[in-house]
Amino acid sequence: MANNPQHDAVMKALSTVIEPELHRDIVSLNMVRNLSIEDGVVKFTFMLTTPACPLKDVMFKAAQFAVKKVPGIRDLDVKWDAEVPTDRRVHGRLNINLRNIIAVGSGKGGVGKTSVSVNLAVSLAMEGARVGLMDADILTPNVPIMLGLTHGRPKVIDNKMIPFEVYGIKAISMGFLTDPEKPLILRGPMLHSAIRQFFQDVQWGDLDYMIVDLPPGTGDAPLSLAQSVPLSGAVIVSQPQEVAVGDALRSINMYEELNVPIIGVVENMAGDLFGSGGGEKLAKQKNVPFLGRIPLEADVRKGGDQGRPVVNSAPDTEAAKAFRQLSRDVAARVSVLQFQTADVIPLNIIG
Ligand SMILES: Nc1ncnc2c1ncn2[C@@H]1O[C@H](COP(=O)(O)OP(=O)(O)OP(=O)(O)O)[C@@H](O)[C@H]1O
Ligand SMILES: [Mg+2]
Repeated sequence: MANNPQHDAVMKALSTVIEPELHRDIVSLNMVRNLSIEDGVVKFTFMLTTPACPLKDVMFKAAQFAVKKVPGIRDLDVKWDAEVPTDRRVHGRLNINLRNIIAVGSGKGGVGKTSVSVNLAVSLAMEGARVGLMDADILTPNVPIMLGLTHGRPKVIDNKMIPFEVYGIKAISMGFLTDPEKPLILRGPMLHSAIRQFFQDVQWGDLDYMIVDLPPGTGDAPLSLAQSVPLSGAVIVSQPQEVAVGDALRSINMYEELNVPIIGVVENMAGDLFGSGGGEKLAKQKNVPFLGRIPLEADVRKGGDQGRPVVNSAPDTEAAKAFRQLSRDVAARVSVLQFQTADVIPLNIIG
């Protein structure tokens, strides 16, 4: 399409469309692929940085508005696609194709980390991303129950464990490997090597997002994780009544000390019982993004107990909708964080 003035005019028009979160135009971000013009209709593949992009509509409207200003163009037709950029640090340190590793942590126990991890992972998969879920709660793994995977062991092929595939995600947990009735007693170094093995000895394949469900607090597990792999960021789960000077704050401080970016704070179990506002206050105090609230709803717990995540079992509930939105916001924020990191492989050189 070289030397075609109309094509050039359209590209020029599209280069005025700014990606609202990355603050750069969609042409220089290489988001416009395979452009053609047929009968006054511009067609191209709109290559996003995540399939879970919350800004599709806004960007389509802006692009449509821009191309229609070019003489002879009457409409725009796009095909959506996504290439999640690779965090080069992940690729360099582990010989595996995990593009982004996201930790889900909290200060206190029982605030809903595992529920958030599971529903976040399944939601990202529902948006079209390739997702893994790693249960880094080695001693008290809850992921198996919440995914309904309490029977059977993962296969081993060529010395690599094959993760279970369920609800569109791949999952691994110590709970798949041990007797649920026997307590698992591990010292710190063994915990560390268990987490490392979950990265290196599992056949993950190419994943856009790896969600890591952590035990509560600032103990060995988040430390081991942050030392073993470069994290794209951490999602902090807090409850409405958690005061800003409490455990969640300590947890944020720990990630900051480990140089792990905070993706944001999500307030879980918001509602009449616990009220709301604690998570938002905490986010403000630490000047990190507030990722919204997940309401306290019986369907979340029921879904967890029955091994059917609420985003799958009761997709029309407020909680499910909140989890779906959370997944889009987390994906968007991870894209933004990547563009702020020099270590990220830019979109235009990955295939
Ligand atoms: N939004 C919600 N509405 C109703 N119940 C919820 C909600 N979020 C979590 N729960 C329930 O609260 C309990 C604790 O949640 P979960 O196991 O996810 O927390 P956790 O932070 O992972 O706990 P732990 O610190 O023990 O790992 C579970 O029974 C879960 O089903
Ligand atoms: Mg848990």
